[in-house]
Amino acid sequence: MIVGTSTADDAAVYRIDDQRAIIQTVDFITPIVDDPYDYGRIAAANSISDVYAMGGRPLFALNIVCFPSKNLPLDVLSQILKGGCDKAREAGIEIVGGHSVDDEEPKYGLVVTGVVPTDRVVTNAGAQPGDALVLTKPLGSGILTTALKKGLLGDEAKEKIVDVMATLNRAAAEALDGLEVHALTDITGFGMLGHMVEMLTGSGVGARLQAADVPVLEEVWPLARDAVYPGGAKRNLQRFDPSVNWPDATPEEVKIVLADPQTSGGLLIAIPPHELNRLLDRLEEAGVATAAVIGEVTSDQPQMIQVVS
Ligand code: CO
Ligand code: CO
Repeated sequence: MIVGTSTADDAAVYRIDDQRAIIQTVDFITPIVDDPYDYGRIAAANSISDVYAMGGRPLFALNIVCFPSKNLPLDVLSQILKGGCDKAREAGIEIVGGHSVDDEEPKYGLVVTGVVPTDRVVTNAGAQPGDALVLTKPLGSGILTTALKKGLLGDEAKEKIVDVMATLNRAAAEALDGLEVHALTDITGFGMLGHMVEMLTGSGVGARLQAADVPVLEEVWPLARDAVYPGGAKRNLQRFDPSVNWPDATPEEVKIVLADPQTSGGLLIAIPPHELNRLLDRLEEAGVATAAVIGEVTSDQPQMIQVVS
């Protein structure tokens, strides 16, 4: 076992010979948007992301489905599965089976098997002082989908957030090929703060985070100020706040946004400074819309995030 339960990593990694390791991950989510096709492709992008977050490539996947077949038309289920299938194809893989059970609330996701050369496994535990921290998607999916459920979101903002969540981390992951990458994870349920704290804890380092450089969808700010956010944002903030030094008078909404749980969020990359420009060029060439340098890894206060405004 190369990566098991000792770090808070995204997937299991198991060596099969001298050169290669298998990556295994499973993830499934409750509906985050009303449209079943969008839900399917978001859930699939979210599941496949954990393979990219270990430095690997997906090989194939299986469906996991919970569905209330007595209360919802089966066409809804077909749309969910079609969304998943199309997203998997975009990742270059097929869904080759799966399992479903009857359940009151729909749930959908994938078991994904991937592969990685053993010398290219990237965990969240290798960050080194001096590394730049790069984030490849804007934050805001927790807050915006909460607003969506309350009917507070216009069509344009809705399309924007569906688009962000349904975007595969494939292009961002492939941009890392051949570069020296020290640590990698994807931003999901623990929010950016939580996943960054996990990376710092695993690596035994600290970080300086430039709050103003963190990409956030603009529609998020007024909602966060009006206290429209999921319960998970508050829980994440309470849980990870002891690991964060905030500048005096940091507005509550800034803390909430940085702790907002994400669905199918971007990659958080720790990369040595001499590779940074190459990485940013490649991300741009690959059409990755967001590539923000949000801070750097430090040695001063292990496991702590020093936020600077
Ligand atoms: Co993950
Ligand atoms: Co996951």
